[in-house]
Amino acid sequence: MFKPGGYEAKNIDGLILLNIWAHYLASNNPEKRKMIFAGLGKPSYILNQDIAIAEADYWNRYVAANQEVREFLSKDIDFSDQYCDDMIKRSTAIDYGLPAGEHESRARMATALSEWYRQPIDAENIIFSVGALAMLRMLFHIINEKNPNGHIITPVPFYPYYNLAEHNNNLHLIDVMDQPGYRLTAHALKKSIDQLTGKTINAFLFCDPSNPVGTVIGEDELKKIAEVLKTTSPDIPIILDEAYCEMVFSSKQHISLLTVAPELKDRLVVLRSATKALSASGERMAVTICFNDMLKEQLVNETAFTYLHTPKSLQYGYSHAMANFMPEKRNNLSRFYKMQVELATERLKKMHAQMPNPEYKIEGTFYVLADLSALLGTPFPADAQQVLGKKDTVTTDEDICYSLLFNDQVMISPLSYFGVDPHKGFVRITCSAGIAGINELMDRIENRLVLAKQL
Ligand SMILES: Cc1ncc(COP(=O)(O)O)c(C=O)c1O
Repeated sequence: MFKPGGYEAKNIDGLILLNIWAHYLASNNPEKRKMIFAGLGKPSYILNQDIAIAEADYWNRYVAANQEVREFLSKDIDFSDQYCDDMIKRSTAIDYGLPAGEHESRARMATALSEWYRQPIDAENIIFSVGALAMLRMLFHIINEKNPNGHIITPVPFYPYYNLAEHNNNLHLIDVMDQPGYRLTAHALKKSIDQLTGKTINAFLFCDPSNPVGTVIGEDELKKIAEVLKTTSPDIPIILDEAYCEMVFSSKQHISLLTVAPELKDRLVVLRSATKALSASGERMAVTICFNDMLKEQLVNETAFTYLHTPKSLQYGYSHAMANFMPEKRNNLSRFYKMQVELATERLKKMHAQMPNPEYKIEGTFYVLADLSALLGTPFPADAQQVLGKKDTVTTDEDICYSLLFNDQVMISPLSYFGVDPHKGFVRITCSAGIAGINELMDRIENRLVLAKQL
């Protein structure tokens, strides 16, 4: 694999490389055709207003306090001993804080999340982190250090970050592509646990709503899943990646395992993020709920070693936004993505590129899976050989995506990057480009499918 300029890509993550090429081609294609980016999880809903207001409020208070100090000191700005001592007395310098976060922000977040999960959550159960990724990395480190050969049970397709070599995760996969509607079931979970009889399970890791599939497990199945989990050792942590839980399409709020089975709470580690739901990826705000004192202590220590703590202003802003995240705001956000997902699903059906399982129903996130296997066997564009090396024919989902990238200025992601067989020809499409953007994207894919048929 190669980067633009012919540099070897080495072990760069597949999605990141695809994104590098998409950006390169966006500004270097002879026809100056607009690149449609639908390969990464890119929120496009308006930035959450409560974050912006709270952050502005936080900093305005410092602006006002600084002004007061300045006015007071301006009487004798002479660097005298008195001036120095007055400055110390009125200092507005921002000091280091606690690794898990400031008590006031944790308490505000705990109240908001207690309401969300309908479970008592205390400030002591809350840890702010610089994005959910940082928390996942810390969790994997702690879990795998204890048992380097232990397994983490997780469904496939999975979020690629779970499988980065750096984590040393020994993933034991539950193939949900075999399951009704590509959803995790208690039965499939039980089967995968049985397969590991006599071996160590380090953790369970569930992403619900699922990235990349867009499915939601649902309350009934979660109850059954809880029963299965209860048959396993109480020492095994259960990680719930709920990065998309604000983005479910039902008028009812997402139901979590924490709400369904609070008796498991000592094992649960719940990850929430401002990235998607509040349209604030770049601010790196996330929060974790952990009820287990020992694990929490380890996570707090890891936080202290890594970045000491998250910025205090962001804890303030994020906790205020969640305290104000009323059902109406959640509904508006969800409807915005739902209409785009529905359009994409409809268009895929019309061009016979829908996934083969008729029970597949997207109930959350902004992702849609598509079956582009009709493009397997088509000629591989000569230009794209600068990425993947010499090849004449499209044989994998990755080839499909690079072929669309070079031929049609469309960036979508191969499902093999999420752990699925590359020869299936499945892809993940992010639906956040708006109605015109999605129609344009689908037109280009449809056109390519028509051309493939004529070969
Ligand atoms: C399933 C899942 N978990 C976690 C994350 C990471 O979120 P953050 O931006 O808070 O690090 C993402 C981001 O795309 C995600 O899709």
